Amino acid sequence: MALTLDDIAQLLAGPGQRQYGHEAVSQLDHALQCAALAEEAGETTETVVAALLHDLGHLLAPGSAQQEEEASEEGEAMPARDDLHQYIALPFLHGVFPPGVLAPIRLHVEAKRYLCTQDGYWDTLSPASKHSLVLQGGPHTQDEADAFMREPFADESLRVRRYDDLAKVRDKATPPLAHYLRKMAQVAL
Ligand SMILES: [Fe+2]
Repeated sequence: MALTLDDIAQLLAGPGQRQYGHEAVSQLDHALQCAALAEEAGETTETVVAALLHDLGHLLAPGSAQQEEEASEEGEAMPARDDLHQYIALPFLHGVFPPGVLAPIRLHVEAKRYLCTQDGYWDTLSPASKHSLVLQGGPHTQDEADAFMREPFADESLRVRRYDDLAKVRDKATPPLAHYLRKMAQVAL
């Protein structure tokens, strides 16, 4: 069930060319921009790879990507259920990468729920992201926020979430996929 590094490269280079919802970038552009922001910020290689792969679930379950696409166009019907894309990739990545890569992928939606308890963050979300927040359980309660912050790699997950939110810029230059495939190989088990 585990993906090889070649499988991941082919997913990013092939299906990754699809548009990222109605954002101005492809899934691959989004992944590369997210990884580049993490790298520019001086994150560890594990966190950079987590940033690259945080939405891999969308490429493994095309239906969930379509759902996001439908959700992203204002005025169109919004999906009625959470796509749970943060969990889809995990069975395929267990045994391939260490917890420092897997945890921020698993937690990037919980990180959004946590950040929505912080002043001003909710206002920065797109209409689709505000809608999906409701399906994802809404902002954390105090107990949920406390439990989240006890998770290993909670801080890294919050930072990946910030890079995720910023990684939607049309025509932004990034290092090529090959640069990040080398980083994947460096941290692979
Ligand atoms: Fe993302």
